[in-house]
Amino acid sequence: MKDLFLLNRDVTYLNFGSFGACPKEIFDDYIKWQYLLESDPVQFITVDGIDHLKKSAISLAKYINCNYQDLVFVSNPTYAVNLLAKNISLSLNDEVLSTNLEYGALDRTWNYYCKKQGAKYVAQPISLPIASKEQFIEEFWKGFSENTKVVFISQITSTTGLILPVKEICEEAKKRGLITIVDGAHVPGHINLDLSKLKADFYTGACHKWMMTPKGCSFLYAKPEFQHMLEPLIISWGYESDNPSSSKFFDYHQFNGTRDFSAFLTVPKAVEFMNKHDWKSISSRCKSSLLNQAPKLFDLLNVEPLAPLTNEFFGQLCSVEINTNFPEKLKQLLFEKHKIEIPIMLQGHKKYIRISYQAFNEIRDTEYLIYSLKDIASTTRLLTI
Ligand SMILES: Cc1ncc(COP(=O)(O)O)c(C=O)c1O
Repeated sequence: MKDLFLLNRDVTYLNFGSFGACPKEIFDDYIKWQYLLESDPVQFITVDGIDHLKKSAISLAKYINCNYQDLVFVSNPTYAVNLLAKNISLSLNDEVLSTNLEYGALDRTWNYYCKKQGAKYVAQPISLPIASKEQFIEEFWKGFSENTKVVFISQITSTTGLILPVKEICEEAKKRGLITIVDGAHVPGHINLDLSKLKADFYTGACHKWMMTPKGCSFLYAKPEFQHMLEPLIISWGYESDNPSSSKFFDYHQFNGTRDFSAFLTVPKAVEFMNKHDWKSISSRCKSSLLNQAPKLFDLLNVEPLAPLTNEFFGQLCSVEINTNFPEKLKQLLFEKHKIEIPIMLQGHKKYIRISYQAFNEIRDTEYLIYSLKDIASTTRLLTI
């Protein structure tokens, strides 16, 4: 399957999670759009491109089950969360309830905007390993107070690679009258996403990770009744455009001035690619393979899984706590000496090595990782096992 991708064949690629990787067929489609753009930039950017964007939004909306008019393309989930955090007006002492398992950059975003408004970002501590969904939910709501106004939570966490029960959290949040924002950066193309069932007020997802589009293709979904709250991050021609043929939500957030939006247009090709190769079956094969392979790493590193080892909590990512005082150096050595691309990340004071399993990964990749970790532990002081 690696031949379908543009990845360097000399590298054992166990980090699909960070930035995905674009198959050649989808990348060719991207270049096709770029050629078309440059063949007549005026027509493409001001006339035809808008039609192409609509077709792409319709394809994406079908894939994640929502109305295409309720989503806009953005460059990445960070952009989407910045847009939300800037727009949701919080009063003095209001609280945004989250977990201590969120993506670090977005912790910064919320801390920044909360501080500006005298509000508080509550990163509710979650005990690891998570014993059950019920335990997670109970711990999460311990962070609730009468000042809580917003819930912000990842559907799949970054460093710890865990699937969280966001549907249940959103349902309870609604009963408590809160605004819900779900960070689904890792979700589309990875686990099933049905926005009509999830019922988050706002949802952002990356297409450039597990849906395998080129970089810079992501979306922000907003329930119709919340769209009016959102001023654009960039004020350009779309602002107060009063365009009768499109919605204010689309005009405000889609028109940021001159830019190459070809990546947004590759969604239909990505969906076609996934259907053609029966990616659902490939993804489930990866998920069961990961569940089978992960215990070898738990044994090597002498740790427990971060949650019950089932597909309720694990998809194609699995993070394993690792005992190193030199995470950066260890990662570097794994790459330079062993040609393994794998992240070693910090969450709180703990370090985790995170495996991603994608179509092209094989059992021997895990075995080679284990062999390499043993080699490093026996020849350097970077790792204790
Ligand atoms: C949980 C989570 N949220 C948000 C992001 C941000 O993605 P981006 O840099 O594409 O905005 C990531 C990136 O890996 C992530 O893991």
